Amino acid sequence: MQLPRSQDLAAELICLDETASTNDALRELVAQNPAQPNRTVLVTDNQTAGRGRLGREWVAPAGKTIAVSVLLRKRDHALPSSWLPLIAGSAVRRGLSALLEAQQVSDVALGVKWPNDVLASNAEVTGHKLSGILTEMLEDGSVIVGIGINVSLTERELPIATATSLTLLGAQPGDADAVLAPVLEHFFGLLDALAAGEVEQVRNAVTADSSTLGTQVRVHLPNGDVLNGEAIALAEDGALVLTSALDGSERTVAAGDIEHLR
Ligand code: BTN
Repeated sequence: MQLPRSQDLAAELICLDETASTNDALRELVAQNPAQPNRTVLVTDNQTAGRGRLGREWVAPAGKTIAVSVLLRKRDHALPSSWLPLIAGSAVRRGLSALLEAQQVSDVALGVKWPNDVLASNAEVTGHKLSGILTEMLEDGSVIVGIGINVSLTERELPIATATSLTLLGAQPGDADAVLAPVLEHFFGLLDALAAGEVEQVRNAVTADSSTLGTQVRVHLPNGDVLNGEAIALAEDGALVLTSALDGSERTVAAGDIEHLR
């Protein structure tokens, strides 16, 4: 893969023909070279054993998705790292929305489902998953932000019925650089804004890009409990604040799976 635009944006761009998981490959690279620079980007279009949140797998037919992992050194983010999946989600939403607009695909709305999915809706589908994000912390506090984007999967290749791809949404995504570069541009732009102290602006951008806030949700908590309510805000650490449907009390959820009810 030739990725000149992405190469210009990354401190170092590593392109692999195939790897099991880009998050794991980047982690190994950093272990071998502790001086690996901030904003190193590792990418493949053939990830054979991608990992999702909560031990799930991320299925990616060869040549049909982009799997990318970005190394963020501690100094690059002034907000708690729990904001990083949300910021990455905003970047994916903004980058891919720009790509769709540039191709006159005007009927698609993208939004970030808390905490780590980018969902697409148009006349045919509502809230179908276009991208997933897996953020992992290294021992020294650096973070690997892994992003999977469904680029050209056909209906039959979708891993779940509620997924979609850029092609299925009507885009002609072109090469991997055309998809990845706008996402990196927005991601590094938001991180630059954070580094410049524009924390409120970044929080506002993430809030505006959320398709979870303002909706009725069902939260499946890691301990198995289920909570229904209205998602009303993001807390200081990026956790989701809900008004419980049970008693109107305010509840804050740091981790869990969300269902959008309406
Ligand atoms: C999820 O939906 O649960 C998160 C999916 C994250 C997939 C990406 S693809 C790039 C990076 N490498 C991985 O093994 N996983 C993430």
